[in-house]
Amino acid sequence: MSLQQQLTDIFGQAFAASGLDTSAGTVAVSQRPELADYQCNGALGAAKAAQVNPRDLAATVLSHVDAPDLIASLEVAGPGFINITVNDSALAQTTGEMASSPRLGVELVADPLTVVVDYGGPNMSKALHVGHLRAAIIGESIKRLFAFSGHNTIGDIHMGDWGMPIGQLIIELQDRQPDLVYFDAEYDSATDGPYPSESPVTLEDLSEMYPVITQRCADDPAVAERARVATFDLQNGRAGYLALWQHFHDVSVAEQKKDFEALGVNFDVWYGESTVNDRLEPMVRSALSSGVARESDGAVIVDVAQDDDKKELPPLLLTRSDGSYLYSTTDLATLDMRVEDMGSDLVLYVVDARQSLHFEQVFRAARKMGVLNPSVGVEHLGFGTVNDKHGKPFKTREGGVLRLGDLISLVTDAARERLDDAHIAEDYPEEERDEIARQVGLAALKFGDLSNHRTSNYIFDLERFAAFEGKTGPYLQYSAVRIKSILRKAADQGLAAGQIIAPTVPQERRLMLRLVRLPEVIARSVDLRAPNALAEYAFDVATDFSRFYEHCHILSEEDPSRQASWLGLVSLTLSVLTQLLDLLGIEIPERM
Ligand code: ARG
Repeated sequence: MSLQQQLTDIFGQAFAASGLDTSAGTVAVSQRPELADYQCNGALGAAKAAQVNPRDLAATVLSHVDAPDLIASLEVAGPGFINITVNDSALAQTTGEMASSPRLGVELVADPLTVVVDYGGPNMSKALHVGHLRAAIIGESIKRLFAFSGHNTIGDIHMGDWGMPIGQLIIELQDRQPDLVYFDAEYDSATDGPYPSESPVTLEDLSEMYPVITQRCADDPAVAERARVATFDLQNGRAGYLALWQHFHDVSVAEQKKDFEALGVNFDVWYGESTVNDRLEPMVRSALSSGVARESDGAVIVDVAQDDDKKELPPLLLTRSDGSYLYSTTDLATLDMRVEDMGSDLVLYVVDARQSLHFEQVFRAARKMGVLNPSVGVEHLGFGTVNDKHGKPFKTREGGVLRLGDLISLVTDAARERLDDAHIAEDYPEEERDEIARQVGLAALKFGDLSNHRTSNYIFDLERFAAFEGKTGPYLQYSAVRIKSILRKAADQGLAAGQIIAPTVPQERRLMLRLVRLPEVIARSVDLRAPNALAEYAFDVATDFSRFYEHCHILSEEDPSRQASWLGLVSLTLSVLTQLLDLLGIEIPERM
């Protein structure tokens, strides 16, 4: 059990012994580390409720605390805070237990859930660009965080592969190459043979066609109408269109997989909107027959407004008047599949914050339609945008959308320059330098993103992100690599980590106090669904380590048990940093 939890239990009992609720015993890390290690503020609220003096109440509570093994001193401060200083040997013991536990003292959750993390969400027929970066990085981190906590996680990319854009691309292709067999409505693969296995287009072609046809549809209602009909026909199983769809799908997925892999992002399933096509019609029918949905001007809608809404929530559109389905319809059917077939207890949508209205509508409709029973949780984890130095969405120098692949090259080059500037890894083989630059570049990119709360927008400042000083990914990697080298040197001298003993140096004590917080940091990040808490903490660990290392000359220390204890602390620090960086999706080079 974590140190903080042990203290919380002790104070909970002390409050109970004082005739108050155990919940007042919650212990937190001290806001004033120079005064105490931990604090308990429960006396303030409890005193207010009981109408007594908070300082007196705090004193009564203290009289019921008897834990000399754990607590070195207690003090009532200010209006009635309780300041707690832990015992040095208890601190060393907890640190030691952490060092010898494969999970670093982090317990698995008692009730593991099946959690689907919906992230990435690229649309078919489009190359990945900077707009997909945050969904990928944040989603991956949240998935890893939940998995590490003990939940059963499934990462689903939820490709946009079934909507109007596909119909648009179909007619654009038809206008360019009308003779393709896919457009021949009479063609029957049973007698005429299968459709060609070679795709008539590359992803490059599709990416070029996409803006052209979007513009054409905007300019000309007749073209838009043809695209609508094509979408309808596709959704209703027209064979030639389905064959074409398969080609669009395959060329898209092949490229997108490469980009996501380059980013270190891996999905468990590559489902898309099309996956649930067979569920759409029965779902809409059942919503109509139960009276949850109704017809309106030929369309089918679900009213989702509630009396207490602050702003008006428009109804959710299940089908257009021509019977075609929409983004919301496939999202609802996907949710149905996730609950029914995948056994989800919780579905997390890591999607641009600008889609919040969509998710509010979908979640409400899902509850009304019975797609979601009350025990299943759904949450939209929105994120902000990546901006340039002027606060505008990040673009290429020419003003175009920056491809994800180009972005990765950009950060790799920047990392390479930084390595050169700092004379790091100078005499290593070229291949290894390339690999280090790749890892450092990605660390710069990911940490630059994940160190912000996901809902805030941030400025993409490559100069700052790629620096080896400051709160950056490269700094953390460098810290970890430095620790590895300390451990290597120690091993070369025949030194090994040993039992962790009570701290004697303030910087050493501080590092221990920092490390033993890991379980709470993990729990908090899970609760808030916020990887930035991990990023923040990883930086604090690295900083505290650096101070410790400055003051404690490990390799030349003369007292062998002290030296072995310090090495134990060094090795634990490396394990904690490695775990945290892995949760952020950041790799650590072997050396640099
Ligand atoms: N394809 C969508 C888009 O490009 C994102 C999908 C997000 N996930 C979801 N279940 N709606 O905006």
